[in-house]
Amino acid sequence: MLTIAQISDLHITNGRNPLDQKRNEDRLRVALKDINNLKPPPAALVITGDLVDLGLADEYEALKAILADTAIPTFFGVGNHDSRPAFREAFPDTPTDENGFVQYAAMIGDLRLVMIDTLDGENHGGFCEKRAAWLARTLDEMPDTPTVLALHHPPVPSGIVWMDEPEGAPWLDRLASVIEGRKNIEAMICGHMHRAYNGKFAGQVVSVSSATSIQLALDVRPIDMRVPDGRELLTERAPGYTLLVWHNKRLALHSCPAGNFKPAVTYQVPFIKDQRSA
Ligand SMILES: [Fe+2]
Ligand SMILES: [Fe+2]
Repeated sequence: MLTIAQISDLHITNGRNPLDQKRNEDRLRVALKDINNLKPPPAALVITGDLVDLGLADEYEALKAILADTAIPTFFGVGNHDSRPAFREAFPDTPTDENGFVQYAAMIGDLRLVMIDTLDGENHGGFCEKRAAWLARTLDEMPDTPTVLALHHPPVPSGIVWMDEPEGAPWLDRLASVIEGRKNIEAMICGHMHRAYNGKFAGQVVSVSSATSIQLALDVRPIDMRVPDGRELLTERAPGYTLLVWHNKRLALHSCPAGNFKPAVTYQVPFIKDQRSA
């Protein structure tokens, strides 16, 4: 059995925004504490972008300091709140493709992780021809190896329309054309939406992780972007993470709220009596 923890949307920030700084750091620490207490320890920690809030060098330094207590090998991706140059400066060990996009492949046990870069300089995602060519080539290298794709922007809408990608965005078609029909893709794991949900894209399973920072409120009513109606947009519900469990060549994706929860039942009486002592 192999397990991999995914966290997303850490939005670590700095002293210029003390309220968000404390809240986002505290919430990240709650999630990391849960992950660090998992038994067995995950083989890897995958972080699907929005590592920091403003893409600033001192925010990446703050993130490094928080992650210093976590010994799990960590794989980083970037989101729309990140700055590629500042990230690469702070985390020079993270590979990039030949064009400087934060895209790479790595084996975690017998599972292959392929990190995709959808940062496009604005809130919405992007995936240009260069990135698509790299992905096609990379997937072609190991067409039979079970593979998890990690990317920041989910390619499947949530129904919470103010956060969703515009319908028919060209980058979605470009991504679909690369991954459609590939039978070795076990799942696409994403972030950005600050809310856990699942869907399907180009025939593939999509799993969107909770944020460790604040969560997206569940409100699927139509919204008029010019007329504020007082609805809750974001909420301080518990931070969360996703645990990928790879067992007997099958992948399960667990969406996990993080925090201090009391056990409801513990294992005290054997499920099966030992016949020898009967
Ligand atoms: Fe985010
Ligand atoms: Fe994002």
